[in-house]
Amino acid sequence: MLGCSPAHGRHETVLTFSGSALGAEGTLVAKQLKRFMQLNPGIRVELQRTPDDASQRHQLYVQWLNARVGNPSILQLDVVWTPEFAAAGWVLPLDRYGPGKSEFFPATITANTWAGKLYALPWFADVGLLYRRTDLVPREPRTLEELVSDAQSVMSRRGAPRYGIVSQGARYEGLITGFVEYLGAFGGRIIDDRGEVVVNRPEAVRALEFMRDELYRWHVAPLDVLTWHEEEARFAFQNGNAVFMRNWPYPVAAMSDTAQSKVAGKFAVSPMPASGTAPAGHSTAALGGAQLAINAYTEFPDAAYKLIAYLTAPEQMLERAQAVGQYPTRPALYGDARLKGAIAIPLDNARRAIESATPRPVTPIYTELSEILQIELHRALVRQAEPREALDAAAAKINALIERTGMRKLMESASRT
Ligand code: GLC
Repeated sequence: MLGCSPAHGRHETVLTFSGSALGAEGTLVAKQLKRFMQLNPGIRVELQRTPDDASQRHQLYVQWLNARVGNPSILQLDVVWTPEFAAAGWVLPLDRYGPGKSEFFPATITANTWAGKLYALPWFADVGLLYRRTDLVPREPRTLEELVSDAQSVMSRRGAPRYGIVSQGARYEGLITGFVEYLGAFGGRIIDDRGEVVVNRPEAVRALEFMRDELYRWHVAPLDVLTWHEEEARFAFQNGNAVFMRNWPYPVAAMSDTAQSKVAGKFAVSPMPASGTAPAGHSTAALGGAQLAINAYTEFPDAAYKLIAYLTAPEQMLERAQAVGQYPTRPALYGDARLKGAIAIPLDNARRAIESATPRPVTPIYTELSEILQIELHRALVRQAEPREALDAAAAKINALIERTGMRKLMESASRT
């Protein structure tokens, strides 16, 4: 897109930036883009909003990039998309710009690396967290079983919130992230270190049974969550309708604001606990987050990198943490006093949560793999299939996908989950 800048009589560089606008994010991004333009008078940046639902945004990007559209010039990628976009040639390698890779959490760099090259810079890190109403449950649950019994005991009281535990149960990427945490809690994985699909092993079956039992046996999760994303869960918790919530760090800011939240000052955040019944189970968070990459079809790759470097610089990350509570991807910032108070948990805990978070498989076929799992998990959760049957079906289809795409060799080295 070329325009003529009348003031200078030369071509203007116009970048389009796409991103989500959850909560106060939209305002913050607009503010940072404006500052960038003041610092770089030759570059104009337009904001292009994209859907918040991760799977919907992915679909839209794929349509644009398949059509070789150069806008948005900068893409906000989910942590699990980079290898796919890189392998398709849709985003440019960044190595020639000399990004300071060692300044970011290693797992976030691994997730953005494909075939030895870096394709995106980590913008903010997401980790799944357990939110709890401290006025109703003063102590953080030590196990998943305790989480359920705490929820049950609160729900049996008069005037208690309607829901025990709310989360993201719709058939989309969010469901996989929650599953990754339950899997870890029972000692299961999707794919093991040797690249073998292990998602139908007994630990994984138990994890899925637990998720289903929350809905039907213990009734601590509402059936509504089967259509919910991040925002529906946040609304329920923020309006005082839930005892616990699984979500990312972003809701803290809005939920702490007394003007819009019924739970300001009445909630705390802790890690999702492990099952007390599974010896190999461990408490873990799914590693999520956003990355910034350059659209391979843009006319202005250098200007696009300039903007990416600006948005991922320490000052902008800090400001993002302060405004919307999102976690920086630079470990050095966890030693910065200005970050304290911006995020809901002690800095060391946040840093450890990121360092011990479970990545989803790093592979160009992740989207297809995830879709298979989404369908099968959901089938079990709506009771169309038994968890074992659903996971056996998922494992068979994932194996077929890996064979069909010739990914077996690559996944042996790249997979972590
Ligand atoms: C958040 C996470 C992302 C995840 C998505 C699922 O945006 O950052 O990694 O895939 O939620 O809904």
